[in-house]
Amino acid sequence: MHSPLRAQAARDSWTLLRYEAERHAAKHRLVVGDIFACTPEEADRWVEVAGSEKIRVLECAGEYAATALLMPMHQFFGGKRVQTRGAAGVGVLPPYRRDGIGSLLMAECLREMEAAGDACANLYASTTKLYRGVGYEMAGTHYSATLETSYLPASRSDLEVRALTEADRPAMQEIVQANAALAPGHLDRCEYIWPRLLRPRGKDAQAYGVFDTTGQLRGFLAFALEHGEDLDDFQRMTLNVFEAADAEGLQGLVALLRSHHSMVREMVTTLPPQSPFWTSLPEQRAKTRMREHFMLRIVRVFDALQQRGYPLGMNAELVFEIDDPVLPANQGFWRLQLADGEPTVSKLDALPDQECHHLRMDIGAFAALYSGHQPAENLAILGRAEAGKEALARASAAFVSRAVTCPEMF
Ligand SMILES: CC(C)(COP(=O)(O)OP(=O)(O)OC[C@H]1O[C@@H](n2cnc3c(N)ncnc32)[C@H](O)[C@@H]1OP(=O)(O)O)[C@@H](O)C(=O)NCCC(=O)NCCS
Repeated sequence: MHSPLRAQAARDSWTLLRYEAERHAAKHRLVVGDIFACTPEEADRWVEVAGSEKIRVLECAGEYAATALLMPMHQFFGGKRVQTRGAAGVGVLPPYRRDGIGSLLMAECLREMEAAGDACANLYASTTKLYRGVGYEMAGTHYSATLETSYLPASRSDLEVRALTEADRPAMQEIVQANAALAPGHLDRCEYIWPRLLRPRGKDAQAYGVFDTTGQLRGFLAFALEHGEDLDDFQRMTLNVFEAADAEGLQGLVALLRSHHSMVREMVTTLPPQSPFWTSLPEQRAKTRMREHFMLRIVRVFDALQQRGYPLGMNAELVFEIDDPVLPANQGFWRLQLADGEPTVSKLDALPDQECHHLRMDIGAFAALYSGHQPAENLAILGRAEAGKEALARASAAFVSRAVTCPEMF
């Protein structure tokens, strides 16, 4: 078994601080502008939209050296919401790079999340190695698909179409939560994600709901349009949101999309392959590609195991021996007992005397199993887990069900 993790001890004179406008603003806008190729004004807008309280700065002897943005959110696993913290905008100033500072920054952020009580952490990585080294692992897939709108069926719907307003937000959230509970890896959209979907790049998306005669929201979508030179000046639609509450809602949304066909020749979306939208189409004409995997880190084993959902009615007992040099509180033996699908989690001092289903793995491998992205047997093939055949199979049965996907990019 080999673990890619390395301990990341705190270093003298390096401190992780919350962003303070007077102290960091001037440098931050330049750093973000340089690293993420945006103008200082765009960098300022990012701070404003994200909220400055989410920004962290790693200083070396009082000098700004690196930054990250930490966003509280919830992600669904096993049908339940798990408290997680997304990371984005990770950047190390060029003079400090290739010296373990990116790793130190992430380790310090993880220690903060652990103290704050987060169960998990997630991100999209520009380099996997950096994040894998501190315990993140690929845990689900982000897809992108393109469809010529001529393949949308010319269906009709009696539902009323109306532009969404702020007052519709609770009904929207209810549909999102119900759908996300069926889709491991999906986010319960937070104040950081909603504006990115409804105001991509600072411009309003077109957002519509389909309502029944009682005024109930049955589905909604949001999209942005752009002219496509390659489409003979017809338009390309980026469909950012597509949420149907039921069959009628689904039909209403498809009819609404199709009604744009005269000007819109192509649509691009991150809806995952399992979305009912794809199955509702008469032909398989979408070009789908796997864009990247999101990475997950288990921050607190106890809370992560306790908050996640498990297969209904399942009874099981598993003991995990976790290796975590970055967050040592996770290190050691964890027992997960499932009684009728309900978890009881306990930390053990040692492996129990009586025979048990015991698995050894590093905390990154555990994240890949936890999300349901990788069966335990695959982690053994990867050299990241060790266990008997039956323990591997039982762990897979407890954690792996539907394909794990995340349509949001953050
Ligand atoms: C990516 C970045 C944060 C790494 O910072 P860093 O301080 O150089 O990272 P570390 O020194 O801790 O590197 C950790 C590991 O990741 C690897 N790594 C670092 N930068 C890498 C890169 N650009 N490509 C591939 N691997 C990289 C290193 O090889 C290192 O492993 P090693 O020690 O075994 O060689 C930094 O280069 C940066 O700010 N880049 C521009 C912005 C960016 O890409 N941000 C990430 C957004 S998710």
